[in-house]
Amino acid sequence: MQGNSAAVAAPQWRDSLLDEYAELRTTLERLMPCMEVSLHLPWIDAIRKLKKQRGALILAHTYQSPEIFHGVADITGDSLALAQIAADCDSELIVLCGVHFMAESAKILAPHRTVLIPDREAGCSLASSITAADVRALRAQHPGAPVVSYVNTSAEVKAESDACCTSANAVQVVESMGADKVIFLPDNFLGKWVAGRTDVELVLWHGTCEVHEKFTAQEARHTRERFDAVVLAHPECGPEVLAEADFVGSTSGMTKWLERERPARVALITECSMADNLRVRFPETEFIKPCNLCPHMQKITLPKIHACLRDLSNEIVIAPEVTVRARAALDRMLAVGRKETV
Ligand code: 13P
Ligand code: SF4
Repeated sequence: MQGNSAAVAAPQWRDSLLDEYAELRTTLERLMPCMEVSLHLPWIDAIRKLKKQRGALILAHTYQSPEIFHGVADITGDSLALAQIAADCDSELIVLCGVHFMAESAKILAPHRTVLIPDREAGCSLASSITAADVRALRAQHPGAPVVSYVNTSAEVKAESDACCTSANAVQVVESMGADKVIFLPDNFLGKWVAGRTDVELVLWHGTCEVHEKFTAQEARHTRERFDAVVLAHPECGPEVLAEADFVGSTSGMTKWLERERPARVALITECSMADNLRVRFPETEFIKPCNLCPHMQKITLPKIHACLRDLSNEIVIAPEVTVRARAALDRMLAVGRKETV
């Protein structure tokens, strides 16, 4: 299967789309100008039809744009949930709307299924900050220390690791290694956050998320004071920002917090599409939106989803020996479970 071929001509507009998608239109018109909704509807319609023909399942990360999240996704969630769904679902064809490491995790957990990503250039600054050779060098420098890798890593880095973790279970996974010292990579800020919550000594790498590192403590403080909002921050933010937050948690942790607390006004210090997507689920909460978009997540668009379903392009392929070793690291994380610790 090849990369996406020639650009796809936009599907035809027809007035009946307005009635057929009345409910979705109402949802999207709360989040974007109605002109934009009209541009999306023909693509949404075409993708839904093609998806049915192909028997495909579309999974979308919480950071995907609202027209994808609300318009075409069958299932949405954080990176771990999406990988687990890929493993457990009935569909042989999965389109993963998210970044490359997420599609790889899905393929590692479901090697017998076809996993497509609409744009294989959708990367991640954390995943690209470290290679398998770097992990081997770290092991040589710290003999005997087990390696815990954040899931925001390539399949090759996972294959060099003893266990993976997400931001939702990082502390638990680190402690489950039963070691006094653990190599924790690649996110330096998440590592510092975890180090503050465990007695295990952590050896950290210098990776950062290019989206979360942009937020400042001043912005977080200003948001709280100016808008009287509760501030929730993702642990990929720097320590000064986290110190300003009322709650620090993974994407799923923040969602659960909102479910529990139902605040009148909240600011999510994370990728800003998440606020758009959650606003629909929590209509009584006002979301103050600090606008940092992930340029990699933004590479996934409706025309590219359509093209990849049409051409069955951008299939994720991972060498079998890498899959087996990366799977062992992911399985070790899954065995620890998903009790939110961050
Ligand atoms: P989750 O693992 O919570 O889905 O987050 C992934 C991510 O890329 C955060 O920036
Ligand atoms: Fe990677 Fe940051 Fe984008 Fe998440 S938000 S995918 S960590 S670059």
